[in-house]
Amino acid sequence: MYNYLFSPIKINKLEVKNRIAYPSLGLLYSYDTKLNDKYYNFYKEIAKGGAGIVTVGPVGIDFLGSGFVPLSIASDEAIPSFQKLTKLIKDEGASPWVQLFHAGAYTYPFLINNETPMAPSAVFSKYSKATPREMTIEDIKTVQNAFAEGALRAKTAGFEGVEIIASAGYLITQFLSPLKNERTDEYGGSFENRTRFVRELLGMVREKVGDDYPLGIRMAGNDFVEGSNSDIETPEIAKVYEKCGVDIINVTGGWHESKVPQLPMELPRTGFAYLAGNIKKEVNIPVMASNRITTPDVAEAVIQDGVADMVNLGRVLIADPFWPEKAKNGRAEEIRPCVACSQGCTDEIFNGRPVYCVGNPRAGFEGERNIQMTGNPKKIMVVGAGIAGLEAALTATMAGHSVEIYEKKDDIGGQIKIAAAPPHKQELLEFVRYYRAMIKKYDIPVYLNVEVTTEMIKEIKPDHIIVCEGAKPLMPPMEGINDSSVISSWDVLEKNPRLGKEVAVIGGGAVGLETAFFIAEKGSMNPETVHFLMTYEAIPPERIREHMFRGSSKVTVFEMMEKAGGDVGKSTKWVLMGNLDRFGVTIKTSSKVLSIKDGIVEYETPDGMESKKFDNVVMAAGSKAVQTLSKEVEESGIPYSTVGDCQQPGKMNHAIHGGFLTALEL
Ligand SMILES: Cc1cc2nc3c(=O)[nH]c(=O)nc-3n(C[C@H](O)[C@H](O)[C@H](O)COP(=O)(O)O)c2cc1C
Repeated sequence: MYNYLFSPIKINKLEVKNRIAYPSLGLLYSYDTKLNDKYYNFYKEIAKGGAGIVTVGPVGIDFLGSGFVPLSIASDEAIPSFQKLTKLIKDEGASPWVQLFHAGAYTYPFLINNETPMAPSAVFSKYSKATPREMTIEDIKTVQNAFAEGALRAKTAGFEGVEIIASAGYLITQFLSPLKNERTDEYGGSFENRTRFVRELLGMVREKVGDDYPLGIRMAGNDFVEGSNSDIETPEIAKVYEKCGVDIINVTGGWHESKVPQLPMELPRTGFAYLAGNIKKEVNIPVMASNRITTPDVAEAVIQDGVADMVNLGRVLIADPFWPEKAKNGRAEEIRPCVACSQGCTDEIFNGRPVYCVGNPRAGFEGERNIQMTGNPKKIMVVGAGIAGLEAALTATMAGHSVEIYEKKDDIGGQIKIAAAPPHKQELLEFVRYYRAMIKKYDIPVYLNVEVTTEMIKEIKPDHIIVCEGAKPLMPPMEGINDSSVISSWDVLEKNPRLGKEVAVIGGGAVGLETAFFIAEKGSMNPETVHFLMTYEAIPPERIREHMFRGSSKVTVFEMMEKAGGDVGKSTKWVLMGNLDRFGVTIKTSSKVLSIKDGIVEYETPDGMESKKFDNVVMAAGSKAVQTLSKEVEESGIPYSTVGDCQQPGKMNHAIHGGFLTALEL
């Protein structure tokens, strides 16, 4: 299986067992630059799962470049703890690498005791919201030297390779970019001058670590920032790296401040692999592709098609560290998916909190959340086959209980199928695919189209019931809620009814906005037609864009708060808002709908009452826990637990982690 993915590769003198690398990915498992058990357990698990390379990072090389939060290898004192980590990784059969990091202008001042960050030029950074000071020649030498010393310490600590970060908009990128580098000395201006900082740095690193030591660099194949390096310039930069003796180039895309999504579901699977291919064509050293390389099939194709020599699996391995092992052994269906929701990783880290994974309750909790075989197997009835019930059923089965699943609908999945309906959200269906595969593997009986009653429970006599009744749309007691124009957002997403030209969505939370996107996109030009018209240059690209973002309905969202999307995560909100804007969705904030009559929506704004006629009025006012069965079960006296939205409507992690943890407690 996957012969390309599982063939070894040589990087300098190092032989890596397969083409899979876990990339550097900030975890925030400590706030003092130091490793701890949470880190050890996490990386050990990734290594155990079968990746060829496990990259630890980002790891700072001095204080001003990373501050007191990310891991640091700025002093010799750090070596023993990294030594312990590299041994753990090697013992599991993986090659430990480290990514050395300096954020330059991206360093948040609060991370460096409110000192001023330094960068090639004093150009304000939208990311850190700070204006750095221009580095002196002495600063330049000091930082280059810190990278070289850091690399040597890394080698001493047992890392088998070092990767230098020259991507995402960090210090080296800032030197390379005409947008951030306004220097007039030998480090700014021409291409030759802008590449001087990194060339000297790589030379110094190489001198410290020796010729045989694997040295990698991570670069953006396109900065995706206007005025910066694009996919036209980056192959030239890659050639410079090759000339400097770099052994492998890891190609990602974009900076933190670029307007192109790099992590969410909007980025198609392998959507940035072409950037690696663009570089690979120009160099003779191995190249890695990155971002949204999700399944073994697409990963294999990246290598088989010659686009790249290795793949980075980041969040994918957080969602399932055993992805490589499962792929290799013909068990790809059993891989827990990364659905690129960004809620447990990117959103958390941007809020200064440790990374977890919505779909994998064990990620970041490897030391404590383990499934132990029960000494007291129970007969468990799981009622409701949404993701909460499915996770509970799977975990309980894996712990040795005898489990049966009951679902009143004709399929498993519950609300996740509704959540997967809006544009770019289809990746969520991977959860259903996964649970279906696991139900099959463990042969868990699933009874569909069955409405469980107390009589049935009495007959089945379970030892424990896990009630996962879910939620239903909340229809607020508003005047006109029964108007014929009114429909719930769930019905729209589930049944996809034909709607009219003017559609109102009441409620501007995540569900309201995604429903608005779902409606606005209907009738717009599909991707295949875009591709066709582009291929034959049938009409000008600007005209294609117009058709892409013009659907059949005009959508207006009403939100009573001052801002819409209050419950949408930081890392995806800008993407969703941008898409709504592209589709011409009007969002009326501070607008409280008071009544609906014959499609006429009356709403109160800070400037007074207004009204507008719509063909359809979609209610997205939240959801309400269903607690019918739990109340009945309570009276029957049979031990039970409730999980997921029937406890209280929440996000996906509430359902999946709740299901997992409830099953552990049986
Ligand atoms: C929470 C988080 C932190 C990250 N930190 C880093 C980092 O420090 N250095 C880096 O090169 N990339 C970082 N990345 C990017 C990942 O290495 C990877 O390129 C990205 O997640 C896309 O790959 P994936 O779709 O396989 O996750 C980070 C990504 C996430 C989600």
